[in-house]
Amino acid sequence: MTALVKEPLAMERKVYIETLGCQMNQNDSELMLGLLAPQGFVPVNNAKQADLVIINTCQIRSNAEDKAYSYLGVLNKLKRQKPNVKIVMAGCVVQQTKDEVFQRAPYVDILIGTQNIHELPLLVEQAFQKDDQKHFMAVDKQKNKSTYDYFDDIVPVRQSALSGWVTIIEGCDYFCTYCVVPYTRGRQISRAPQSILDEVKQLADKGYQEITLLGQTVDAYGKDFTDRTYGLAHLLEDIHEQVPEIPRLRFMTSHPLDLSDDIIDCVAHLPRVMEYIHIPMQAGNDLILERMRRGYTREQYFELIDKIRDKVPGVAITGDFIVGFPGETEAQFQDTLDAVKRARFDSANTAAYSARKQTPAGIWETKGEGVISQKEKDDRLQRLNQEISEMAYEINKTYEGQIVEVLVEGKSKRKQFDRWRGRTRTNKTVNFDNFIDPSLDLTGQLISIKITQAHAWALQGEVCIAHKSHEPGILLSP
Ligand code: SAH
Ligand code: SF4
Ligand code: F3S
Repeated sequence: MTALVKEPLAMERKVYIETLGCQMNQNDSELMLGLLAPQGFVPVNNAKQADLVIINTCQIRSNAEDKAYSYLGVLNKLKRQKPNVKIVMAGCVVQQTKDEVFQRAPYVDILIGTQNIHELPLLVEQAFQKDDQKHFMAVDKQKNKSTYDYFDDIVPVRQSALSGWVTIIEGCDYFCTYCVVPYTRGRQISRAPQSILDEVKQLADKGYQEITLLGQTVDAYGKDFTDRTYGLAHLLEDIHEQVPEIPRLRFMTSHPLDLSDDIIDCVAHLPRVMEYIHIPMQAGNDLILERMRRGYTREQYFELIDKIRDKVPGVAITGDFIVGFPGETEAQFQDTLDAVKRARFDSANTAAYSARKQTPAGIWETKGEGVISQKEKDDRLQRLNQEISEMAYEINKTYEGQIVEVLVEGKSKRKQFDRWRGRTRTNKTVNFDNFIDPSLDLTGQLISIKITQAHAWALQGEVCIAHKSHEPGILLSP
C-alpha cells in the first residue's frame, strides 16, 4: 500500500476500539489498529483514556444494530466531557445506513465502510486537523479487485499472540433471504494466494501456533479467480507444506454447497489441519430451507455430514440455526430439533429470526407475512438450545478418559481455580490442572491432557505424566 500519511507523527495518541460482530469484523479491527500504528496510535483498553474511539459495528440482527447505537450513546456522553475525542463508526451498520448515521448520531466524526478501511489514516488526520469540517466519510458500495492490494502491507495489531485470523475471502454471493452480509460486505473477492502465504509465514516467524482462515463462505475461496483452478484445498496444502511451523490450521465458515471433497480430504489427511468444521445448517425443514434460499435439502446436508464423519473420524461439527423464520410452523421447527440429533452437532449458534429490512424475508415480515411472535421465537430458541446442550454433553462424555492434544491459551478465566485453559484439535475448550509442575508456564504449548470430566460447553482434565521423552505429557523430573 502506498503510505497515505507519509510522515509518521512522533506524538503518541491513544485509540480504543469496540468490536461487535463476527471474526471478520474482529480481524478488520486488528487491521485498523495496524493502519493507525504508524501515526502514533497506541491501543488502550478503555474509551475514557482514548483520543480516538472506533466502534466497529455488526448488522446481522436488530439487537446487534441496537447495541451499536446504544454504545454510540455512551460515546456521546464521553464526547461532551472530552470534546477533542474523535469518534469513528465502522463496519456493517455503516455500510447499510450511512445516510442515517449523521442524523441519528451527529457527534460521530468519521464513517468508514467495510471496503474502505485503508482510508482510515487519512480521514483520521483530516478530522484532527480540520476543525471547521464536521463529518468525514469513505463508504464505497462497490468493492474493487484491488481491496486486497491495500491489505497486503498492513501489519495488524492482533489480540492474540497465539492464534491469528487471516481473512482469505471477503463478501458473499449467496443472498440467503434473511441475511444482510451480501449487502454489507459485497460480492465474493478472494485474496491472492501468495499474499495469504506471506502473512501466514510472518505469523509463523512471530511464534503463532494457530491460524484460522476466514471468510463468510470460506470454502468458496478461489471461485472468483478467472481460471478457477486454485481453491481452499490448494491453499491448505500450500500452507501445510510451506509453513510447517504452524501446528494448527483451521478455516471458517463453511457453506454446504462449497465444502468440496478435496477440502474434506485436507481435513482427513493433512495432520496440521484440525478435525473441526463449522458448517451452518440454519433449519432442518426442506420448505424453510428453500424459502431461506440455502440451496440444499435436509437430506443433502445429512449426506454431507455423513461423508465428513466417514472420512474424518472424531471430527467435530458445529452449526448455526435460525428459529422463527417467517411462516415456520411448530412441525417445521420440530424438524430442526430432530436435525440436531440426526447430525449430532457438537454445538451450534442459535438465533431468533430478526427481520432485516433490505432482505427479501425482511420485506415479507414488513408486509406481515408469516410473522412469528417474539414469545414463540423465544420459546423455540430455548427448546433448541436445550436440545443442542444435551447433544453437546452426550458427545463430550465420549471424551472422558481420553488423552487429547491441547493448545494452551493461558490461565483459566475462572481465577479461583488457578487452572489452565486451552482447546482440543476439535476446538473444545479444556480447563485443566497441572499437578505435576504447577510452576511451569504452559502458554502456547501443545500438551497432552487426560479428560476427567465432561460438561456441555467445556471439558475438564489434567496434564498427563510422561514416563519416557517420546510419550505425551510432561516428563517428571528425574
Ligand atoms: N456465512 C455463514 C454465516 C453468516 S452470518 C453462513 O452462511 O452460514 C452468521 C449467522 O447469523 C448465520 O449463520 C445465521 O444463523 C445468523 N443470521 C443471519 N441473518 C440472520 C437474521 N436475519 N436473523 C437471525 N439470525 C441471522
Ligand atoms: Fe449470509 Fe447466506 Fe452469505 Fe452466509 S451464505 S453470509 S447466511 S447470505
Ligand atoms: Fe455482522 Fe457484518 Fe459479520 S453483519 S456477522 S459483522 S459480516
